[in-house]
Amino acid sequence: EKGGHDWFMEKEILEQPQAVHDTLLGRLSETGSILLDEVRLTDQDLRDVDKIFVVACGTAYHAGMVAKYAIEHWTRIPCEVELASEFRYRDPVLDRSTLVIAISQSGETMDTLMALRHAKEQKARVLAICNTNGSTIPRESDAVLYTHGGPEIAVASTKAFLTQLAACYLVGLHLAQVRGIKYADEVASVVEQLRAMPEAIATVLADLDGMRTLARDLSTRNTVLFIGRHVGYPVALEGALKLKELAYMHAEGFAAGELKHGPIALIDEGTPVVCVVPSPAGRGVLHDKIVSNIQEVRARGARTIVIAEEGDDAVVPYADHVIRVPRTPTLLAPFVTTVPLQVLACEIATARGHDVDQPRNLAKSVTVE
Ligand code: F6R
Repeated sequence: EKGGHDWFMEKEILEQPQAVHDTLLGRLSETGSILLDEVRLTDQDLRDVDKIFVVACGTAYHAGMVAKYAIEHWTRIPCEVELASEFRYRDPVLDRSTLVIAISQSGETMDTLMALRHAKEQKARVLAICNTNGSTIPRESDAVLYTHGGPEIAVASTKAFLTQLAACYLVGLHLAQVRGIKYADEVASVVEQLRAMPEAIATVLADLDGMRTLARDLSTRNTVLFIGRHVGYPVALEGALKLKELAYMHAEGFAAGELKHGPIALIDEGTPVVCVVPSPAGRGVLHDKIVSNIQEVRARGARTIVIAEEGDDAVVPYADHVIRVPRTPTLLAPFVTTVPLQVLACEIATARGHDVDQPRNLAKSVTVE
């Protein structure tokens, strides 16, 4: 049933091109618009939205953090992302014109469910993004957009993350379109870029030679740090989470610009730092900033593992190890940059002799608060 793979996680990582393809299927029109009639929110409902909250836990929360960049950019609606377990305890400002997006693979996560119940009590509209048909979270929501990732069996979430991103992007683009704001023009070109993501993910998966050797090397370390900027920041957090839960290693993700405000003190000789580098083409400033951050950590002895676009030579002088991903527009980069981090965590955990599919102390769906 693992299809010849050692772990369900490995199988699920390899299923990602298909999972993203299936999630987009039938939802992108030939003329470059978004087809989301299945989501039972009227165009008027969507035009009335003046604030968005994304609530979720763990990996789904990281998907929401990525989505915030895209949703705000395209819709110009303020979007906040909040850990579901914190949301209702701080009395957030919610009303009829607030859209709450609850992201959950299982649809049974109690923290997320309680956050959505709180939102409904305050009259906000709730849209669920969920992978499990008929589960509690979509049942209790006003509307649902299912990810079509297929069952995820490994405890660590992989294909759910990429399909959640795809679903969030569909929602963001749909909102932009319905509201007809400035960035609505971009929708058609982003639709084309989204269509190309399954193939881009497959390219990353086909080109991961050297990952096992790298993983074996890193498996004896105590700490691995991850840095990124913009959408690369939540990707860094996700890379660190995968490593914590599977390899039981101390791993932390940082916004690269924050290093100098404290965390850089952690770095000494040989500390591995995984750097998620944005495209030099999109927002050149971001790219140059992170190249300086890589220089800074290397000057303090870090061993740098750099995830960078094909053809980005600026990182080479400061990289101990380069992992290449295909050229991808800035906002879509997490579809490709997350994948090597998933594989790295899986390989490091394997090298340390752990049960990758069933990490200690964790359950696939967390039904207590
Ligand atoms: C991490 C992981 C968890 C889940 C979180 C939310 O690999 O699997 O962090 O992402 O427990 O679960 P769902 O999406 O089912 O609500």
